[in-house]
Amino acid sequence: MTKTLSILLVCLGNICRSPLAEAAFRAEAERRGLDVVIDSAGTGAWHVGEPPDRRAVATARRHGIDIDHYRARQVTAADHHRFDAIVAMDAENLHDLRLYAPDGASARLFLLLDFVAGREGDSVADPYYGGPEGFERTWAEVTAGAFGFFEALGRR
Ligand code: 4NP
Repeated sequence: MTKTLSILLVCLGNICRSPLAEAAFRAEAERRGLDVVIDSAGTGAWHVGEPPDRRAVATARRHGIDIDHYRARQVTAADHHRFDAIVAMDAENLHDLRLYAPDGASARLFLLLDFVAGREGDSVADPYYGGPEGFERTWAEVTAGAFGFFEALGRR
C-alpha cells in the first residue's frame, strides 16, 4: 500500500497566494488523477479564520474554481510532522519555516518557483498591496508551480 502524499502550501497571510496555490495544486492533482492531501496556511496569524481576499476569490472564480469556503490558518509545529512536503511561496516564508521547524520534522521544505524552469530561486510576489492584475500574475505563477511540482514528482 502506498501512503497518500500530503502537501502544504504556505505564504504570509494565507489569504492571497497560498489559497490560490492550494486551488492550483488541487486542480493539477485532479487532472493527473492523483490521490493527494492538499492544504494551505500562513506563517502569520493576522487573518486566521478569514476567507481568502476577495480579489483572490474573484481570480480563482475566473479560472473556474471556487475558494470562498477556504479559511485562513497559521502554520503549526505539527504541520512539519503531518505533511510530506511544505511549499513556500517566497524566500521569507521558506526562511521562517526553516526557523520554526521542530526537531525531528519529517516534512521536506521547498520554494514553489524552484519547480518552474527559469524561475528557480524566485519568489511569488505578494499581490496584497497591488491591483487586480497582480492576482492574475500570482495565478499564472502558482499554476506553473503546481504543474512543475507534479512533473518533478513523476520523475522521482
Ligand atoms: P498572502 O498576502 O501572504 O499572499 O496571503 C498577504 C496578506 C495579508 C498580509 C500580508 C500578505 N498582511 O500583512 O495582512
